[in-house]
Amino acid sequence: MAMKKIGIITLIIITFLSACQSNETSPKESTDNSTIEKELNKKESIDDVPNDEAKDQASDETSEQKDNINGEQEKKEDYVNEDGIVVISDPNDIHLVVNKQRKLPDGYEPEDLVVPNVPFSFDEWNEKKQMREVAAKAMEKLFAESAKQGMELVAVSGYRSFERQKAIYNYNVETQGLEHAQKYSAMPGHSEHQTGLTMDVSAATVAFSLEEDFRQTKEGEWLEKHAHEYGFIIRYPKGKEEITGYSYEPWHIRYVGKDVAKEIYEQQITLEEFFNLVP
Ligand code: DAL
Ligand code: ZN
Repeated sequence: MAMKKIGIITLIIITFLSACQSNETSPKESTDNSTIEKELNKKESIDDVPNDEAKDQASDETSEQKDNINGEQEKKEDYVNEDGIVVISDPNDIHLVVNKQRKLPDGYEPEDLVVPNVPFSFDEWNEKKQMREVAAKAMEKLFAESAKQGMELVAVSGYRSFERQKAIYNYNVETQGLEHAQKYSAMPGHSEHQTGLTMDVSAATVAFSLEEDFRQTKEGEWLEKHAHEYGFIIRYPKGKEEITGYSYEPWHIRYVGKDVAKEIYEQQITLEEFFNLVP
């Protein structure tokens, strides 16, 4: 009888233990599945780029991992591509210089885009309402202070994806001709708007237009004198067309941080001159 009881208890214990094991398999399986999914996604994104690039990408990852293990982070350098254009290595640097000679790396999209809380010239959602967070915060301060001083600045156009810049550039070339378009419009990959550090601003008194007339408004005048106090520069100043490669744009402000903006304002120079990158 005692033996029979022990047998029954043993059977119960064995059944209980195997039930516990089978419960454990569910979460493990799901972890494995999500790992597989991640691997597949990784593969898909590598398959999107040409084979050689994918190989380069893979070897880059390996060397970066090695550096991390050794506790040393390799600093990537800008490089000159086959067209003689400098490809910027760190597009997230707020001091980056992007122009006709220097481009953003392929596929660059800022990761911290937000919509600044400022008045816009339109109501609906559009990607161009966005800026990188650091620039958006500075923009809010600039707008708040300018409003206190009686200005009615209006934001018109901030972030542009590579695709949108491409559409804008092509449209300008088609409608205005190459020479004119190149004075006002950057080629895709070469626009500061793709960095998320720039906003075009205007005023109601010039119908929110992005034209030289904006400089004659009280808002345009205020912007030229005070943008640097908030970390912005007038990126394409009058008289510096040979250096910047673009016509005067009193409406296009670029965030570079207060220290650099102050120096550039006081010395009346361009970003290219400040960083010794005059073409
Ligand atoms: N208007 C400036 C140059 C741009 O297209 O980025
Ligand atoms: Zn602009």
